[in-house]
Amino acid sequence: MVIKMDILEKPPVGVEPLYELLRTTSKHYKLFCIFYAAMNIRLFDCLESPKNPRELSEALGVDSRLVHVLCEVLTDLGFLKKRGGSYMNTKIADTYLKRNSIYSQYEVLMNLQGGFKLWENLTDILKNGPVRADEQDFFHDNMIHALAAEHLTGELQKTVEIVKRLPEFRRARSLLDLGGGHGLYAIAFAMVNPNLKAYVFDLPEVIKDTKAYIKRFGADRIETIEGNLFTDNLGKHDIIFFSYNPAGKNPNIVPKIHASLNDGGLFISKHAFYHKGEGSKNRLLDLEWNLTTWKGIKKGDKIYSFIGDLNYEDYLKLLKEYFTIKKIIKPEKFGSISLYEFGDTLDSKIIIAKKRTSLK
Ligand SMILES: C[S@@+](CC[C@H](N)C(=O)[O-])C[C@H]1O[C@@H](n2cnc3c(N)ncnc32)[C@H](O)[C@@H]1O
Repeated sequence: MVIKMDILEKPPVGVEPLYELLRTTSKHYKLFCIFYAAMNIRLFDCLESPKNPRELSEALGVDSRLVHVLCEVLTDLGFLKKRGGSYMNTKIADTYLKRNSIYSQYEVLMNLQGGFKLWENLTDILKNGPVRADEQDFFHDNMIHALAAEHLTGELQKTVEIVKRLPEFRRARSLLDLGGGHGLYAIAFAMVNPNLKAYVFDLPEVIKDTKAYIKRFGADRIETIEGNLFTDNLGKHDIIFFSYNPAGKNPNIVPKIHASLNDGGLFISKHAFYHKGEGSKNRLLDLEWNLTTWKGIKKGDKIYSFIGDLNYEDYLKLLKEYFTIKKIIKPEKFGSISLYEFGDTLDSKIIIAKKRTSLK
């Protein structure tokens, strides 16, 4: 079919906003691919000491001309420095981009890449509905590792600083890291309180990862418990730490946590709540949230929301029936930098609540 049109006539509206969006998307996607590939070939591990492109090519088994250009890009971005014809890591690359660094962000890049694969299927998902996933598998492969890496960049240390100042924490002998995943919080809490025994409770597949972290950090006084927090017994503890869990706003968990605390025990909850009538916190993340469904628990429409969740106001009301709220801490005091993905702190709060012995 021939469309009769006058190509000399300018379009009715300028293309600038669209091209601006495509330009930044195109640039940043390519940059992401560079970091992803560089970490995959272990470029930054190799550049702990200076190497020229020929040496890099031999050590990594990659094309010397391409790796040369890649190094030039990374130098322009401030992740490598160049001396003569050789390249070497800058401090930020040495800290976060080596695969063997304690602060390595390799798993974060893997996780972002996994997310992109899902986004690439958006057309199919729009036509056929969300991808069905097993919650356990989602966390086990590789969300829990990405969260561990993200939290190690600052959120973990800030959270531990807040908790370690609490007199109840200093007196505590038993702490439950409920849905602890990687278990880094339990590991860190036991490090700062030498009298503390910490238990990481999580789904069986995820506990395999927890055990690997305990081994990796040579942690003492940590035990793991495999279970489902909705159905299994949680034991009895002085502190229950509950961070970023699907059941974080579920009303049935509050009495269960109360019953699993010793007298005067503390419940420390870190979750993103929705105020009564609150809309979206982030539309892109809402869409990402809805690309998958999990077996066993029904997601709500908005990021981090589940069917049956309480809103913030009603949650606090319920909490006050069982606990005395001691402190509510804003995300500026502990949160991570946003990566525009599942795992972002958004406006999460840490609620510190003390067990009431006589209920309201
Ligand atoms: C978002 S991760 C948070 C991990 C860790 N607490 C943190 O703050 O980084 C949620 C964790 O809750 C666990 N989880 C989810 N549903 C659970 C359930 N029904 N019983 C026990 N653990 C559960 C997941 O396996 C995962 O390790």
